[in-house]
Formats: sequence, C-alpha cells, structure tokens
Amino acid sequence: MKTISLLAQKGGAGKTTLSIHLAVRANLDGLKVLLVDIDPQASALGWWRRRHAEQPELIQGSGDKLADILSRAARQSYDLVVVDTAPHSSQDARICSQLSDRVYIPTRPAILDLDAIGVSTDLVSAADIPAMIILNACPPPTLFGEPKIVAEARQALQTYQIPVCPVAISQRAAFGHALIDGRAINEFDPKGKAAAEIDRLWQTVQEDVKL
Ligand SMILES: Nc1ncnc2c1ncn2[C@@H]1O[C@H](COP(=O)(O)OP(=O)(O)OP(=O)(O)O)[C@@H](O)[C@H]1O
Ligand SMILES: [Mg+2]
Repeated sequence: MKTISLLAQKGGAGKTTLSIHLAVRANLDGLKVLLVDIDPQASALGWWRRRHAEQPELIQGSGDKLADILSRAARQSYDLVVVDTAPHSSQDARICSQLSDRVYIPTRPAILDLDAIGVSTDLVSAADIPAMIILNACPPPTLFGEPKIVAEARQALQTYQIPVCPVAISQRAAFGHALIDGRAINEFDPKGKAAAEIDRLWQTVQEDVKL
C-alpha cells in the first residue's frame, strides 16, 4: 500500500481537487483506493456524498487518527491511500508528512502563492519525505508551449530543494462542473483536455511512488 498526501498551508491551492482526481483516476485503473479527508472543512466528504459511484471509498478523519486509519487500510489491502489535508494546520501537515510515502504540494503559479509555499516546503523537508510541487490552476498551454507565468513559476520554484512536477494542471471550468454531482473530470469528460492532464499527472505519480 502506498500513501500520498496533498499538502499546502495556503488555502485554495488545489489540495481537494487533486486528491479527488488522483483517487478517482487510480480507481479507474482498477486500484483499491481510500480517500482520507482530514480537513475539518470536509470538502472531499461533501463531494463524496454527492457521488453515486461507491468507489473510491472515503473516510473522514483527523491528523491524530491518521496512523490508525492507515494501519487499518493496510490490513484491508488498499493499494493506495490519498490524504486530503487542511490549510493552516502545521500539526496535521507534520503528521501527514511523517506517515506518507510521498507528499504533493499544489500551488497556483501566481507570485503570492509562490511566496507562500516556503511554509509547506519547510514542513516537508523537516520530515525528510520525498515530495513534489504541482503547479495547479495554470493558464492552459498554447501552441508555443507553457505560458510565461508557468515557466517563470518553475524558475522561481528552483530555490526549493523539491522537484516540480513536469505536468502542470490548467485552470479549467470543467473541473468545477465535474465535482458538482460527485464526479471527477475523467468520468465527466474523459476525452477532454482536463482529463488528459489528470491522466498525465496520474502517470507521473504512479512512476513516482512505483504503483
Ligand atoms: N485546476 C483547476 N481548475 C479550475 N478550478 C480549480 C482548479 N483547481 C482548483 N480549482 C477551484 O479552486 C477552488 C479551490 O480548490 P480546492 O478546494 O481544491 O483547494 P484546496 O487547497 O483544497 O482549498 P482549502 O485550502 O480550502 O482546502 C475550488 O473552487 C476549486 O474548484
Ligand atoms: Mg481542500
């Protein structure tokens, strides 16, 4: 069993969106997936309650229950656990980093978001856990490749000792539309551009955690 956490101290970076999408995408590949929502805002839980499909399974928890949840999940032969975390909770972020095989830190490419990422990267570096930054809600690529703001964000993020995911997730309204009735983009519009980006992100994560 592999455990990945989506962690960013900044609110609205895309933790819940990416947790849901990675969990659903992994499940579409036939993996037994548990999504653990340890954010008291319970956004992933809200999505799951709107969902008609039974998979992936979801459990609402908290940082101090995470170790127990993970040992139960291991006994129940889950292949992958995806943990969606709260912003502004350094205690939970610390616990999560210690218990995960990989931490993914989403960030928007704007300068104020990039400025805020140091708090998250410090927490992860302190736990000495492999991590990756994921650029989320980026302007979509053009015929000429990545837009300037995304290239500049990659450049700015080189200051941190954490690699940046080669796949950037674009800002696309379809993500929001899919979540309304408890779906993910790969179910809502599987042939669309947003789904293709999630496919590529999932492929990167698979290689990263060796699933
Ligand atoms: N790639 C994207 N394209 C379009 N909308 C997005 C994208 N990523 C996130 N959003 C939207 O931005 C908002 C914040 O995203 P999300 O809830 O995933 O962030 P979060 O990091 O979980 O926030 P919080 O810190 O409050 O838990 C949501 O309305 C979500 O639908
Ligand atoms: Mg969230």
